[in-house]
Amino acid sequence: MNTLDPDNIRQPISGALGARLEILEVFEEIESTNSYLLDQPAPPPGRFRVALADYQTAGRGRLNRTWQSPPSSGLCLSMAYTFRQMRVKLPGLTLALGIGVIDALRRLDISGIRLKWPNDIIAHGGKLGGILTEACQGARKNLTVVTGIGLNVDLPDAMQVLEKPTLTNKIVDLKDCTNDPPSREKLSVAVIESLFDCMVRFESDGFASFHGDWKKVDWLFGRQIIVDQTDGRCAGIADGVDDDGALIVRTDQDRRHVINGSITLRDDLDDIA
Ligand code: BTN
Repeated sequence: MNTLDPDNIRQPISGALGARLEILEVFEEIESTNSYLLDQPAPPPGRFRVALADYQTAGRGRLNRTWQSPPSSGLCLSMAYTFRQMRVKLPGLTLALGIGVIDALRRLDISGIRLKWPNDIIAHGGKLGGILTEACQGARKNLTVVTGIGLNVDLPDAMQVLEKPTLTNKIVDLKDCTNDPPSREKLSVAVIESLFDCMVRFESDGFASFHGDWKKVDWLFGRQIIVDQTDGRCAGIADGVDDDGALIVRTDQDRRHVINGSITLRDDLDDIA
């Protein structure tokens, strides 16, 4: 697979979308596109900037995990967008942007993709990608949010071989989803279009307007899960999300709304034990 050609990404971003783009940069190698954008000047409200990399030397995932994607094998894309208000509920935004990524893939004829709350992109029961949403510090009236999308496009076979694949640790790439994966440039353009649309829609209507879409792609719904949080662990059945995007878990005692935590499938835990 070739390295990314910035012109093939910038040129199709035209019209109303192009008018809102501050700057789009493509790096051959960088520590992390999210870390880079967090250090850059914030775009003015309603505008966005994009950083892409062929390879990240220190890609980051949620909960301080690393994100590994060998050179030219995936999409490593971050977008900074400035909301006109401070009160943006990031957990719901991450879910909304996941729906945007699915929409981008659908426009490229790739279907059957699901989301595992809160930020995993799932195909064929394995992890196709992930989303990392981070707020910039120091803003007063507006909030700038940096969202990173990592998608496995064409991974070396060695990365996909696991001795004991479980539903939670299996890795898949776009080659597993289609015989004809799009170029990373086309993928970048589709993802940028969708992310921007979702930012604008989320800004005006919040997560509630994405709730119906979420139900269609909710991979955890009805599954037995274990939730690990800083203050302990609980087991239950995933029962969708609420209007803020919190995960609803039916336990033997109650119905909990989980805002933060790491989710494991009960079956996987039994496998590992
Ligand atoms: C996760 O699965 O926990 C989220 C992974 C997010 C990875 C992307 S790749 C582009 C951007 N830069 C980073 O360092 N991380 C995100």
